Amino acid sequence: MGRPANTGSREAFDAAAADFAALGRYLWEPVATDAVATADPGPGERVLDACCGTGASAIPSARLVGEEGLVDAVDVSAPMIAELRERASGIAQLRAHEADVTAWGGAGYDLVQSVLGIFFFPDVLDGTRRLIGMARPGGRVACTIWRRGAVVAAGEQLGLAIADVRRTDPPAERPAHLIDRINQPGPFAEWLRSLGLVEVRVAVHERALPMTPGVAWLLVLGSGYRGALTGLPPEVVAEVRDRYLARLREAGIDELDTTTLTGTGTAPV
Ligand SMILES: C[S@@+](CC[C@H](N)C(=O)[O-])C[C@H]1O[C@@H](n2cnc3c(N)ncnc32)[C@H](O)[C@@H]1O
Repeated sequence: MGRPANTGSREAFDAAAADFAALGRYLWEPVATDAVATADPGPGERVLDACCGTGASAIPSARLVGEEGLVDAVDVSAPMIAELRERASGIAQLRAHEADVTAWGGAGYDLVQSVLGIFFFPDVLDGTRRLIGMARPGGRVACTIWRRGAVVAAGEQLGLAIADVRRTDPPAERPAHLIDRINQPGPFAEWLRSLGLVEVRVAVHERALPMTPGVAWLLVLGSGYRGALTGLPPEVVAEVRDRYLARLREAGIDELDTTTLTGTGTAPV
């Protein structure tokens, strides 16, 4: 998620892979549908899908580029890649790779896209620069991030629920992060331009996730938020779940803002 405290580690995504796939129809797929429509992969194109997860954007992109095209889908989490291989078996033009995409050797792509990925890079600036460098001159780059305020309410209530159950202080504010400065359309566009992209546009995709108890808990189990549960025994996790759901009810949170920004630009010729 948008890099809340204590989440988003590789271990968290490894542990989350099966639930991540289950959350897909509620969250990852609607986000990816909008992102892919904006990035617009075309027949015959070579696409890099960076931080592909279980393929929410890579699979539809592979269908759009067709058999004459190619999608290299790269994720650092082995269980995510295993899940993707299973889901995409039979789509020959989709190649799933387990790797740190910031160190991926590929180059010359017609389109480099990353949906909800770049904010996990330890160095967002350097990692995104590297992705941009993998597009061919004149190729497109499309990065999707959460808009400011999106998804945070769930992370806050989860952090507070864990503190309630463990009888500790509420979690400290996480340190300021580059993404906090660029998660609005204007600043995002400016930042992408500063990385050398031209013809930059930012599309806003407004969205809300209905937070039924089942979906609200799946959101924790099937995302980077799962990292916050690492090391807790099952009975404590069950208590955290109950407390988290009660907190959501008390706070009147029955839907969650999941608005995304997709920034697109062209690599300089
Ligand atoms: C929130 S998920 C998004 C997955 C997918 N793009 C989607 O929209 O469904 C973020 C993904 O980024 C991956 N990731 C984080 N850092 C990465 C890196 N350096 N290289 C490759 N994948 C990375 C995680 O393993 C995780 O699968």
